[in-house]
Amino acid sequence: MAKLTAGMGTSHVPGLGAAIDNGKTHEAYWKSLFEGLEPLRNWHKANTPDVNIIVYNDHATEFSLDSYSTFTVGVGESFRPADEGWGPRQVPEMQGHPEFAWHLIESVMADEFDLAVNASMDLDHGFTVPLSVAYGQPSEWPTAVVPVCVNVIQHPLPTALRCYKLGQAIGTAIESYPDDITVGIWGTGGLSHQLGGERVGVVNPEFDQLFLDNLTKDPLANTRLSHTDFMREAGCEGVEMIMWNVMRGALGDNVEEIFRLYHIPVSATAFGAIILENK
Ligand code: DHB
Ligand code: FE
Repeated sequence: MAKLTAGMGTSHVPGLGAAIDNGKTHEAYWKSLFEGLEPLRNWHKANTPDVNIIVYNDHATEFSLDSYSTFTVGVGESFRPADEGWGPRQVPEMQGHPEFAWHLIESVMADEFDLAVNASMDLDHGFTVPLSVAYGQPSEWPTAVVPVCVNVIQHPLPTALRCYKLGQAIGTAIESYPDDITVGIWGTGGLSHQLGGERVGVVNPEFDQLFLDNLTKDPLANTRLSHTDFMREAGCEGVEMIMWNVMRGALGDNVEEIFRLYHIPVSATAFGAIILENK
C-alpha cells in the first residue's frame, strides 16, 4: 500500500526562483536564506518519495479569472513550467503520475469533494519555486508530482476548514492506493504578504509563527481562521496559507517537526518553510 511519509510547507516567492535561475543565491540579499535552507535540502535528499502531491495556487497564469475552479487536480503525464510573461522558467518539466492522480480523484470525490480535473495545465511559480526550494537545480526532478490547485485568488474561496478536510480525504486516498509507493504532500504559498493596496508590504511575524506552531501542535486552530482573519493579520495574499491546511489535514494527528525556517523579508513577503514527519 502507499505510505504518506511527510509534509512540507513552503512559501513560493517568485524572486527566489529568479535568484536560483540567475545564479544570485550567494549575493548578500539571498545568502543567509539559502544557507538556512541547507538542512531542508539535505532532508529532501535523504527522504525523496516516489510522488509528491503539491498543493499550490495558479496566479491567473493558466486559469483565467473568468473560470476558476475551487480545487483542480492535474492528471497529465507531464507538466510544463508556465510562461508568466517573460518566458517559462528554465527548469525541467514535471513528470505526473496519472494512475495515482486518478485514484486520488476517485477516492476524494467519493468523499464528497467535487474536483475539477485537468490533463494539460502549465505550472507557474506557485509550483516550480517550491520544487526549486526543495531540490535546487537538478537536470530532472527526482519525484513524480500530482498538482492540486486551490483557488486562493478569485472569491469566494474555500474555507480554511474545507482545505483541512480536503487534506483528510487525500490522506484516506493515499492509504487505499494498492501500490507500495511513498508519498509526500506539500502546502505552498504565504506566509504573510500583501502585494498591492494601502497595506502593501505588510508582514506579521507573530501571526506567522503562531500559524506554524499550530500546524505542528494544534492544527484545528488554523482551521478556525476566516479569510478576513488571514487578510487582516497576514495581508491579502497571506490567505494563500489555507493551502498549508490541506497538507496538514493529510498527515495524521501526531507529527514531528523536523525543520522550520522563518526569514524576513524575501521580496515583499515573510518566507516560511516547515517539514513535518508523520508519526
Ligand atoms: C510575491 C509573492 C507571491 O506569493 C507571489 O505569488 C507573487 C509575488 C512577491 O513577494 O514578490
Ligand atoms: Fe503567490
